[in-house]
Amino acid sequence: MRASLKILTCNKNVDVNGKSVIFSDDDNTLLSCLLKGGINVNNHCNEGFCGSCRANLIHGKVKYISKPLAFVHDSEILVCCSIPITNIKIEIVE
Ligand code: FES
Repeated sequence: MRASLKILTCNKNVDVNGKSVIFSDDDNTLLSCLLKGGINVNNHCNEGFCGSCRANLIHGKVKYISKPLAFVHDSEILVCCSIPITNIKIEIVE
């Protein structure tokens, strides 16, 4: 029997537009966490190309799981290809 290895992370609180959702080990990206939490987020390519999922990062830190190709300002993140590494606060402009 082969043992599976899963890297465990701690849940992170994601404060978005005044609502709070939890990023857990089951979430592959910040986008999947937000959608699961009922947060409406524009998205299209889901691979960091189009920029439609951009959000303003108010505080906290994220890590990109793949390098985004869309242009983002220093204060912006792409939620389709990032995960939070701290509790974060973001703003999504609809
Ligand atoms: S959905 Fe296209 S960059 Fe995120």
